[in-house]
Amino acid sequence: MIIYFTGTGNSRYASEVLNSVLDDEVICVNDILKNGQFPSSLDSDTPFVFVTPTYAWRIPRLIEELILNVTLTKNQKVYFVMTCGGEIYNAEKYNKRLALKKELDYCGTAEILMPENYITMFSAPPKNKIEPIIKDAEQKLLEVAQSIKNKQPLAPTASTPLGKFMSGAVNTMFYPICVSAKGFYTTEKCIVCGKCVNICPLENIRLENNVPKWSNNCTQCMACICSCPVQAIEYKNKTKGKDRYFNTKKYSNN
Ligand SMILES: Cc1cc2nc3c(=O)[nH]c(=O)nc-3n(C[C@H](O)[C@H](O)[C@H](O)COP(=O)(O)O)c2cc1C
Ligand code: SF4
Ligand code: SF4
Repeated sequence: MIIYFTGTGNSRYASEVLNSVLDDEVICVNDILKNGQFPSSLDSDTPFVFVTPTYAWRIPRLIEELILNVTLTKNQKVYFVMTCGGEIYNAEKYNKRLALKKELDYCGTAEILMPENYITMFSAPPKNKIEPIIKDAEQKLLEVAQSIKNKQPLAPTASTPLGKFMSGAVNTMFYPICVSAKGFYTTEKCIVCGKCVNICPLENIRLENNVPKWSNNCTQCMACICSCPVQAIEYKNKTKGKDRYFNTKKYSNN
């Protein structure tokens, strides 16, 4: 069973590539979050494969909490596939620890480099770099899928002192310091299409007198700011003039 969460489409696309080999059931966490309660248990005859973006060099805390709260039954194997804009550093240690807590058989973490989406902090790659990055990612995802299909463990990722620091202390500081919707606002370009309201996986945006307003339940997934059709959303003074990034590609292996 493939279970994915996405802000701007990379992890959805990665799931599609994996599933071209695995031909398995696919669950979209975004849809479940929007349509109601996350189920209390998930049953799968095949390994559980969690596909997520990387937030501060680990899987998103939201997903970690969902995994902790759901009973995973039948198959005992678990894989993690983390799409990232640079590196996942020491995320594997925490994924292993999570699997242990769930009494699952940890089978590995794949680091999949995809275009950077964290535009409130960094920049998306230039347009001409996006396709080559995605092509390389597809190749790696197909190899990972083959390993999962053959029930083989994935190669361990390297642990370094810098990685320990980034996935450890920096990750801990990241949530209280950086994860907030307070900096989002709209400009006069807004056409009140409602897309940002509909796409937010946490129902954190509402229209108030035809102006989008953000509440405090934000995971900084970048879906709202990157999907606005007229680039009317900005974040503090960090995003003016920057390219938005959203992966809407459909994977086809033909
Ligand atoms: C809040 C936030 C934190 C991020 N932290 C990292 C990180 O620590 N390392 C990294 O390589 N990429 C990081 N990224 C980039 C994303 O993980 C990457 O672009 C990912 O493929 C986005 O997936 P999605 O399109 O499915 O949301 C971060 C992005 C966001 C929005
Ligand atoms: S997606 Fe953009 S244009 Fe549409 S309501 Fe939101 S801010 Fe306005
Ligand atoms: S408000 Fe936060 S959680 Fe909702 S779409 Fe925007 S960045 Fe994502």
